Amino acid sequence: MAAINREYRKKFYIESYGCAMNFSDSEIVASILNDNGFGATGNYIEADLILLNTCSIREKAEQTVRQRLHLFRQVKQSRPGMLIGVLGCMAERLKGKLLEEERLVDMVVGPDAYRTLPGLIEEAETGQKAVNVLLSRDETYADISPVRLDSNGVAAFVSIMRGCNNMCAFCVVPFTRGRERSRDADSIMRECAGLFAQGYREVTLLGQNVDSYYWMDEVADKIVTFAQLLEKVALIDPLLRVRFSTSHPKDITDEVLHTIARYENICNYIHLPVQSGSTRILQLMNRTYTREWYMAKIDRILSLIPDCGLSSDIITGFCTETEEDHQDTLSLMAYSRYDMSYMFFYSERPGTLAARRYADDVPEEVKKRRLDEVVKLQNRLSLESNKRDIGKTFKVLIEGDSKKSAADWRGRNSQNKVVIFPKEGGSYNKGDYAWIKIAECTGATLIGSAVQGEEIN
Ligand code: 5AD
Ligand code: SF4
Repeated sequence: MAAINREYRKKFYIESYGCAMNFSDSEIVASILNDNGFGATGNYIEADLILLNTCSIREKAEQTVRQRLHLFRQVKQSRPGMLIGVLGCMAERLKGKLLEEERLVDMVVGPDAYRTLPGLIEEAETGQKAVNVLLSRDETYADISPVRLDSNGVAAFVSIMRGCNNMCAFCVVPFTRGRERSRDADSIMRECAGLFAQGYREVTLLGQNVDSYYWMDEVADKIVTFAQLLEKVALIDPLLRVRFSTSHPKDITDEVLHTIARYENICNYIHLPVQSGSTRILQLMNRTYTREWYMAKIDRILSLIPDCGLSSDIITGFCTETEEDHQDTLSLMAYSRYDMSYMFFYSERPGTLAARRYADDVPEEVKKRRLDEVVKLQNRLSLESNKRDIGKTFKVLIEGDSKKSAADWRGRNSQNKVVIFPKEGGSYNKGDYAWIKIAECTGATLIGSAVQGEEIN
């Protein structure tokens, strides 16, 4: 049901941290709250309920949240009836301990417990502390229509699965988000078709490990794999672009690659986190592939989808990492020629396999120096990749104004690169596709101008 024309008794304000999955969860939370008399506000000063949807992936993410909580403590002092809730991964990791450590917090709600929010709010309104951090084996919020927050009206995230069964040694996610489960394919299709009908032109199918999507269609008595789901969504309309995130190199199949190659509207872009380029470190990380195996996967992708955009996640200074291991990471990055990477230094998380098994023995300054080298190399690779695009023409989905100037449009090509071009001379709107010939670039953007008819390609 649309949120328009509704009377809301109270106002909530929500801030989200961490991955796209968390931002997507906040849209589910917004939907549940709307149905229970709470309307969203972008101004926390006037909110009756402040929610922080938190991330635990690195210590820094948790520190940021704690700083925000300290700010909200002051707000709460001037508005005594206001409630503060901590949602998401940090809530799940710290549970009731969070109430002891952060006394202003009224509610602690884990990622599988959002349906119980209305009851928890009622409980907190009576002055009691309310906690629900139960993880579920089957909750996917399949039937809940997310309320789009901070949306550009063109691109939306659609959650297709929750949790994670991989046990990467560094990662807290299996503990904070629980077991892996896939969402009903029909409800995914309804959500994507609904978005298209509302004018959206791009959906990103989200999951911690999308390639292990698996749904039993009881009516057709057929299994839906990730490749089949991608195809179903692509068939909604050729004007609807489809992206997905995140893939685990061990799970992405040829079937998925062929499906991407077959449909023009499935974007030629794969985020394929490598984490490290050293086989020894990969083994300690429990990633279950070697350096050579990953390289062969990159080769396979490029042989089936020659213009595929590639990006990665990289961790420097994992337990026992030597200079030689680090050099292996640099050389693998160069081999993969990533267009972009998310890069981090290792942050030990309590309870993970690595925290239990290995010493966090690479000194912080070494982790940071290696990270610096990784970032510098990625900057060079990004610039080189963008330079190779000069002179090419790309189909760009317009997302809105350029951040720098309202005289320019900003959009993305299939490879997920940001493309800027002047509005002048064309009559495009947000959500339209335009063909853009690239004339120049920076490390982060392609800059060009619109071309028509014969000029295309
Ligand atoms: N320390 C640093 N980076 C981490 N990541 C996950 N756990 C940690 C950690 N303990 C990174 C990985 C992952 C991305 C989402 O965050 O690269 O792919
Ligand atoms: Fe952070 Fe991971 Fe939780 Fe996402 S799933 S919010 S990245 S800890």
